Amino acid sequence: MKKFSKVAVLAAFMSTGVSAGALHAQTAEVLHWWTSGSEQAALAEVRKAFEAKGGAWVDTPIAGGGNARAAAVNRMLGGDPASVFQFSIGQQLRELADQGLLANVDKIASEEHWDEKLPPLIVKAAKYDGEYIAAPINIHGENWMFFNKAGLEKAGVDVPKSWSEFMTAAKKLEDAGIIPIGLGGQPWQERIMFNSVLLGVGGRDFYAKLYSTLDDDLLASDTMGKVFETFAALKPFVDESSPGRNWNEATNMVIKGDAAFQFMGDWAKGEIIAAGVEPGSTVGCAFAPAIDTAYIMTVDAFAFSAMDGEEEATPAQAKMAQVMLEPDVQIAFNKKKGSIPARLDVPADSFDSCAQMAIKTLQDPKTHLVSTGLFGVPSSVSGAIDDSISNFWNSADMSPQEGQEQFRQAIANAK
Ligand code: GAL
Repeated sequence: MKKFSKVAVLAAFMSTGVSAGALHAQTAEVLHWWTSGSEQAALAEVRKAFEAKGGAWVDTPIAGGGNARAAAVNRMLGGDPASVFQFSIGQQLRELADQGLLANVDKIASEEHWDEKLPPLIVKAAKYDGEYIAAPINIHGENWMFFNKAGLEKAGVDVPKSWSEFMTAAKKLEDAGIIPIGLGGQPWQERIMFNSVLLGVGGRDFYAKLYSTLDDDLLASDTMGKVFETFAALKPFVDESSPGRNWNEATNMVIKGDAAFQFMGDWAKGEIIAAGVEPGSTVGCAFAPAIDTAYIMTVDAFAFSAMDGEEEATPAQAKMAQVMLEPDVQIAFNKKKGSIPARLDVPADSFDSCAQMAIKTLQDPKTHLVSTGLFGVPSSVSGAIDDSISNFWNSADMSPQEGQEQFRQAIANAK
C-alpha cells in the first residue's frame, strides 16, 4: 500500500463500499490551509464533486499558508508525499518542479483544453517545461479595502479615494470610537497592506517595474520613500491587540463594526458571505486608495506530488485536476471563496457586485499585477519582503527612511 495513512484509506473505503484496490486508485490525500469557515465551505464544493465522480478524499488541513506549504514540501522530501497539495502558482511552485518533486497533469489539461480556457498569465505560471504542474482554481485580488458602512456614516466620512483622504477619515473614525483599521498582525497580512500602499502611492507601473526588476535605484527612490512614509502613518490606526490576530478575525471586526476598514485579499469577502452579509450591503468593498486602477492577483492552485517518482499524475490526481476546473465547480467554489473563476468561459453574472468589479477590471490587461506572496517573485525574495516589512511595521523607532533602506538591503541580499 502506498504511503497514505492506512487508517485514512480504510475510513474512506468503509465510507464508499467499493473494493480497496479500486478505491485506492481513486484516493487523494489533499493537504491545504483552508481552515476558516468560508475556506472550508468552498473546498467542500470541490470535495463533493470529486466524491460524486468516485473519488475518495482524505483531508489534511494545516492552518496557515506558510505552515501548510512547508508541510507539503517536507512530506515530499521525506518520501511520504500528500498526493494533492495547495500552493499558489508562480515562481515558488516552479522551484519545486526544478527539484523533480511534482507530477504533471498535462494529459487531462490537454483533453480539457485548458490553454484556451485560462488567462495567458495563468497558463504561463501553471506550466513547467510546457506541461501543466498545477490546477489553478481561482483568481484572488489582494488590493481590496473592505469597510463597515455604518461605521463610516457614524464618523461622517466617505470611502477614501486617496491615502491622504484615508488619513483624514481615520482620525475622524478614531474620534468616533471606531478602530480605523482591523489588521491581523502577521507578516503576510502586513505585507498585503504595504503593497496596497505601494500600488496606491507609486502607481501600477511603478509596482510592476519594482517587483519584476527588484531594481536598487527604484528601491532607493523618492517614490519608495513616500510609500514608507504613508505606510508608517497608518501605524496609529491599528488596535494594540493586532499582533498575531488571524485575518478572518480582522474581517469579523469589520463585519461587526468594531473596525472600519480591512485591507485584505478578497478571501475576506468569503467570510463576509459566510456571515450572511451580502457584499456591498452593510459591508462595502472598494479597491484600496490608488492613483490608477490595478489588480494584485494571487491564484490558488493545487499541485500534485510525484507519487513513487512518477512524472505522470495518478488517476486520482488527474480526476482532482479535472474536477477543480469544471464550470459548475468553478462557480460553486468561487462564490463561497470570495474569488473569481480562473476559467474565462464561466458565466459569472450570479457573482456579487465586488466580484463583478474584479471581472470588469481584469478585462484591461494593464491592470494585471502579481502578488509578491507566491506568484511574482522567488521564494527567497518573497520571504525577505514579508520579514522586512513586518520588522518596520512593528518597530517603534525605525524611521520611514530606515525602513526603506532595510527593505532595499533585504531584497538585495535575497535576490
Ligand atoms: C492566501 C490564499 C487565500 C487564502 C489566504 C488566507 O494565500 O490565496 O485563498 O487562503 O491565503 O488563508
